[in-house]
Amino acid sequence: MSDAQGVVHGTTASEARKAPDSMFQLDNAVPISGKQAPPCTVVIFGAAGDLTARKLIPALYNLARERLLPGAFAVIGFARRDYDDAGYAKHLESELRGHAPGGFDESVWAWLASRIHYVSGNFDDTEAYGRLSNKLRDVDTAHGTRGNVLYYLATSPEFFSICARQLAANGLAQEESGKWRRVIIEKPFGRDLRTARELDKQLHSVLAESQIYRIDHYLGKETVQNIMVFRFSNGIFEPIWNRRYIDHVQITVAETLGVEKRGGYYDKSGALRDMVPNHIFQLISLVAMEPPVSFQADAVRDEQAKVLRAIQPMTPEDVLSRSVRGQYAAGQIGERLLADYRSEPNVSPESATETFVAMKLGIDNWRWTDVPFYLRVGKALAARSTEIAIQFKRPPFVLFRNTAVDKLSPNTLVLRIQPDEGISLKFGAKVPGATLRLGSVDMDFDYSEHFGAQPATGYERLLYDGMLGDQTLFQRADMLEASWAVVNPVLDVWSALPPRNFPNYHAGTSGPRDADLLLERDGRAWRPIK
Ligand code: BG6
Repeated sequence: MSDAQGVVHGTTASEARKAPDSMFQLDNAVPISGKQAPPCTVVIFGAAGDLTARKLIPALYNLARERLLPGAFAVIGFARRDYDDAGYAKHLESELRGHAPGGFDESVWAWLASRIHYVSGNFDDTEAYGRLSNKLRDVDTAHGTRGNVLYYLATSPEFFSICARQLAANGLAQEESGKWRRVIIEKPFGRDLRTARELDKQLHSVLAESQIYRIDHYLGKETVQNIMVFRFSNGIFEPIWNRRYIDHVQITVAETLGVEKRGGYYDKSGALRDMVPNHIFQLISLVAMEPPVSFQADAVRDEQAKVLRAIQPMTPEDVLSRSVRGQYAAGQIGERLLADYRSEPNVSPESATETFVAMKLGIDNWRWTDVPFYLRVGKALAARSTEIAIQFKRPPFVLFRNTAVDKLSPNTLVLRIQPDEGISLKFGAKVPGATLRLGSVDMDFDYSEHFGAQPATGYERLLYDGMLGDQTLFQRADMLEASWAVVNPVLDVWSALPPRNFPNYHAGTSGPRDADLLLERDGRAWRPIK
C-alpha cells in the first residue's frame, strides 16, 4: 500500500503520527530546486545522539520543505536507547522546535514525523540487525521505498566497521534487483595513516567503493562548494592563480568555543586529527587543484587527490620548524569566561593534547612550487572565523619611489567560509587630496545580502547527494590516505616530544606567539582574527 494513500506503518501509527492532509500537498508539489530524490529509507545509526538531532533531522526537514524528498520516504533511527517510533519522533520534534533553521513549519514536520521509525539495539548485536531487517521490510511495504537504503553511521568511530560488517552479514548491504544500499561514514576516518588504511580494508571487505560515502561536512557548506565555482566560472582568476602572481595562501579556522562536552573524544584526538586531514585539507585541495575535465565525481576527486599527494611530506626537522601546537588556558571571549582546557570535563589535568595547530605547507607541483600554504586552526580563539586568504605578490615599488607612499599593500582575495559568508578583494586606491597617498579598500560580496539567508545545516546537500548516488562531495580513500600521509610525520614527532609549554595561549586571543613567529620568520603576518 502506498504512502500517498495515507497509510502509516501499522504497528506504530498513533494519532499524532497519522499522515496529515498537508502531506498530499508536499508530495505532489514541485521541488523548489533540483529533482526529487528517489524512493528510499534513511537508516541512522547513533540516532539518539547530538549529530542526529542537531544536524541530520533538521537537514531532512529542510529537504522536505524544499520538496526534495520523495513521498516514498522513511527514516529509521537505530541506537541503544529505548524508544518506540512515536516516542522517537517526539524526541526529535522537541529538539527541532525552536532550532529549525528558518522556523518550524508544522505541516512539514507532520509529513516527516509520519515517516520516522525506530529500532533499539547495540551496534554489535546480531539480533538487533534481525529487528532492523524486519523493520526495513515493514517500512518498505508501508512507504513504498523500493528496497533502497541509505545508512548513515553517526556513531563513534570504533563502530564503523562493526556496523558495516553486521549489515553485510545480515544481508542488509546487498545491492540486487536494482535496489541500492549505501553507507555514509562520519569522521574521523582513522586516527592516522595505518588505522585509516585498516578501516578502509575492513569496509572494502564487505562493501564496494561505490557504496562507501566518507563524509566531510565542510563539503556541505555552500561557501566551500563555491570555491570551485568561483575559480572555474570566472575567467579573470584562473590565469593568475599560480606561483607567478600569488605570494602565499592563509587558511584560518578559528572557533570561539572551547571543547565543551566533548572532552572524552577531543582529548584523545586533538586539533590536528580533528580538523586538518579532513576539513582543512578539503579547503586546500579545492583552492589548489587543477581544473577537472568535468564535474563528474571522479574527475573532481582525481584532481583533489593529485594535489593532496603533491603536498610535501615533512621531515622531523621540518615538523619542528614548520608546525606549532598550542593549548588554551583560561581567558575571556566577549562576555564569556573560559576555564583552562585541562579543567574541562573528561580532559586529563595533565593533558598534552593540542587545541591549536599552525603549519606551513608546500605543494610540490608546477603551479605552486615556492608558494607557502599557511594554515591555523584552534579552539577558544578571539573570534569565530573560517576564511581562505589568497595574497598576491606586491607590484614593483619603482613608480612610487619619490612620492609620499612608503610601501604598497598586496592585493588579497578573501573567501569567507563562515560565519560572515562572502568574498572580498582588497586593493589600493588613491586617497583624495593634493598629495599622493594610498589607502586599502575592499570590494565586498556578501552572500546573505545578495542571495538572502538560506536556512541550512550544511548536511542537506550531502544527504541529498547520498540519495541520488552522487559521490562528488564525498572523500575517496586515496584522498584520505594522501591527507594522513602529510599529517602522520607531525603526529609522530609530537608524540615523541611532548609539549613542555602547555598551556601556551589564553582563551580569547589569536593563539600562541609561536604561530606568529612562523610567519614573521618569512617576513609575513597572519590576518587578524576578528
Ligand atoms: C567537527 C570537529 O568536525 O567540526 C569539531 O570535530 C569542530 O571539533 C567542527 O568544532 C567545526 O565545524 P563547523 O561547521 O562549526 O566549522
